[in-house]
Amino acid sequence: TSSLETFRPAMHYTARDTWLNDPNGLVFHEGTYHLYYQNNPFGNVHSNMSWGHATSTDLVNWEEQPVAIPCDDTEEIFSGSIVVDHGNTSGFGTSGTAPLVAIYTSAFKPASAHPGIQAQSLAWSTDGGYSWTKYAGNPVLTRDSPEFRDPKVFRYDGPAGSYWVMAAVEAHDYAVLLYRSDNLKTWEYLSTFGPANGTGGIWECPDLFELPLDGDAGNTRWILTVNMNPGGPNGGSAGQYFVGQFDGVTFRSETTVTEGMQDDGRVADYQWLDWGRDYYAAVSFSNVPDGRRLMIGWMNNWQYANHIPTSPWRSPMSLVRDVTLTSVNGQPRLVQQPAAEYTANSAPVPAQQLQLDGTVAVDGGTAVKQIQVTFTPGTAEEYGVAVRGGEDGAATRIGIRPVSGELLVDRTNSGDTGFHDAFPSVSTAPIQPGPDGTYSLQIFVDHCSVEIFAQDGLVTLTELIFPDPSATSLALYSTGGTAAASLQLTPLA
Ligand code: FRU
Repeated sequence: TSSLETFRPAMHYTARDTWLNDPNGLVFHEGTYHLYYQNNPFGNVHSNMSWGHATSTDLVNWEEQPVAIPCDDTEEIFSGSIVVDHGNTSGFGTSGTAPLVAIYTSAFKPASAHPGIQAQSLAWSTDGGYSWTKYAGNPVLTRDSPEFRDPKVFRYDGPAGSYWVMAAVEAHDYAVLLYRSDNLKTWEYLSTFGPANGTGGIWECPDLFELPLDGDAGNTRWILTVNMNPGGPNGGSAGQYFVGQFDGVTFRSETTVTEGMQDDGRVADYQWLDWGRDYYAAVSFSNVPDGRRLMIGWMNNWQYANHIPTSPWRSPMSLVRDVTLTSVNGQPRLVQQPAAEYTANSAPVPAQQLQLDGTVAVDGGTAVKQIQVTFTPGTAEEYGVAVRGGEDGAATRIGIRPVSGELLVDRTNSGDTGFHDAFPSVSTAPIQPGPDGTYSLQIFVDHCSVEIFAQDGLVTLTELIFPDPSATSLALYSTGGTAAASLQLTPLA
C-alpha cells in the first residue's frame, strides 16, 4: 500500500517532496501567515539546510512557496525568526515600505571566512516575504562559537525603552543569551538565563514573549521557552518553559525548580510544552493581531527523525496552537489549544453516552477527526480510547490511569513501528481530574499523528503514528472495572 501519499497528513503542513525540521520566521503580515522552515531542497534527510516557505490566510490550508533563503558554498541557513520592521530601523525598507527582516543562524562551512562557527545574520524582503536578500555585513553577531544559534527577535516596548531584543542559545552551555539592538545590525549583550530545570540535552530554539495572566492585561508574565535535545520527559527531543518577569535586560523565572546542571531525576517536575515524543523546536509567530500568541512545533524527534517511513517528503509540522497563561493552584501555567480555525467549518456528530466494562467498538467515522471524550471514573484502573484500529488488532491506545494520575499513549502496536528501535513506546504525562472528578481529552487524529489536549489544554501530548491507511476503527475501553464516557466526534476533511 506504500505510495508517495501514504501517511501524508490532511491537517498538518508537510513539504511536497523534501525534508523539513524546525519552524522558522513565523510571521503574520498583511493578511498572510508565513511559515518558513528548516528544509533540505534536495532530499529527505537533514542536510543542505535552507529556509523553505509556505503561506496561509487561515492557518489551516498552506501553500508551498519556492525556497526562500537557500544554502550556498559558504553557509547553511539554520533556524531563526522574522520581524516586521515597522519603523524601518534597519534601513532595508524602500519608499515607505516596512521591510521584513529575517535573523537566522549562519552555520559556516569550511570554505567560508568563519569555518566551524555559528553566528547570527540578516536577510530582508521588501515584497512581503517572497524574495530575500542577504545583508552584505553578515554576520551581525558572533561569539566565535560553534554552537551559538537560533535567534528569536522581538520588539520590546516597556519601562526600559523601545528596542529589539534577541534570544539565542549557547546550546552546549544550556544557556539562553539576550541581546538588544536599535537597528538589527549592531547588538549589545544584556544577560544570560540558564542552566535551569531540564538539562538532559543541549538547549535550542528559544522564545520569549509576554502574556496576560488569567486574561488580566494589567497583570502580565513573560514566558521563556527553550527546546532541549535529548532529555525530554519521554525520551529525546522536547520543549520546556519558564514563567517570570523580563525588565528589558534580565529574565527572572518564578517557576524554576532546580538551578544549574541536573541529572534527569526531576524531569516530571518541570514545565513541558508537550509531554509527547514529537513536538520540538516550537516557536511563536510575530506580529499576530489581537494579542494572539500562536505556536507551531516540528512534529518529530531527533532520535529517529531521519528514519520515519515516509517518502519523498519527511516530517510534518504540528497543529497551530493558541497559547495563554492561567493560574493553577497559584502557579502560572501555559494553556495550549488547537487554533479554533481547524474545526470552524466542521459539524460534530451527536454525542454518545457509554457505560464501559471492557471494550466497546464505536463508529469511528473518518480517519481524520477531532475526538472529545470525557470519562467519569468507576472502578476501572484504566480507561481510554483506541484510535486508528486495524483488522490485525493494531491501534494506538490513549488511556487514563486515575490512581497513578497518568495520561498514557501506547504506540507499541500502532502500525509501522519497526523503522527505528527508539520509536515504539509508551509515553506518560501527569494528569489531574477536573473539579467535578472527570477527565476530558481533546484528541486530533490524522494520517500519521495523534495530538492530545488534556485538562482543557494544560497537558498536551503529541506523537507520530504510522497506521495502515485502512485502520480507521475506534474503540473505548476500561480495564479491571467500569467507567462512563461521553464521546463526541467531529470529522475533519
Ligand atoms: C533544532 C536545530 C537547531 C538548528 C537547526 C538545524 O532542531 O538543531 O538548533 O538551528 O535544527 O537544522
